[in-house]
Amino acid sequence: MDRPILVAPSVLAADFSRLGDEIEAVDQAGADWIHLDVMDGHFVPNISFGAPVIAHLRGRTKKPFDVHLMIAPADPFLEAFAAAGADAISVHAEAGPHLDRSLQAIRALGKRAGVALNPATPASAIANVVDRLDQVIVMTVNPGFGGQSFIPAMLEKIRDVRTMIAGRDIDITVDGGINTETAAKVVAAGANVLVAGSSVFGGSAQGYPAKIEAICRAAGASRGGWA
Ligand code: DX5
Ligand code: ZN
Repeated sequence: MDRPILVAPSVLAADFSRLGDEIEAVDQAGADWIHLDVMDGHFVPNISFGAPVIAHLRGRTKKPFDVHLMIAPADPFLEAFAAAGADAISVHAEAGPHLDRSLQAIRALGKRAGVALNPATPASAIANVVDRLDQVIVMTVNPGFGGQSFIPAMLEKIRDVRTMIAGRDIDITVDGGINTETAAKVVAAGANVLVAGSSVFGGSAQGYPAKIEAICRAAGASRGGWA
């Protein structure tokens, strides 16, 4: 049984001077989750925002906050992101030597635990932590910036991850370069959560529902119908 297709707009591409309004707009436009990219200028070559910003945004929507930590170390900050209102927290497999410990800590905080894999990291990185996972984020660009091009070689990794999770209750999320064209391909390969930044945000908020619907439609079509 296929998992539902979900769209998680990444606020990295939103107008940061109006973040709360932008989140309300994608909520009303049909977003399933809100994807929040935290960058430290150390693990990735860019800086975005941290837990205090997320805490201020929490009141603007009831949709789940999917927090993607591109920070190293991550462990000292997990509690702060949980307290700020994260529903899911994902750490990078490459961000520290104790992935198993990080995942246990996230679940101990009562949050969904995720691991994100850089393009060069094989699916096998999750082999010994599968039962600690609620989500795998397959990075389909190198993390750090929005608006990059999808890396086609990641389609095979999505298939590998799908094989490894073997029907467990785990979401396969893709992050980077997702648009109507790539959404169809990643869903055909086995992904079910689509993070989308620049293909949702930008221009008038009145256009957001159509953009989210177009991604859903393209993704559903590759399953033989709008899921
Ligand atoms: C990249 C981030 C992504 C990014 C996606 O480091 O993790 O979530 O915002 O942006 P687009 O959809 O524009 O590639
Ligand atoms: Zn992300």
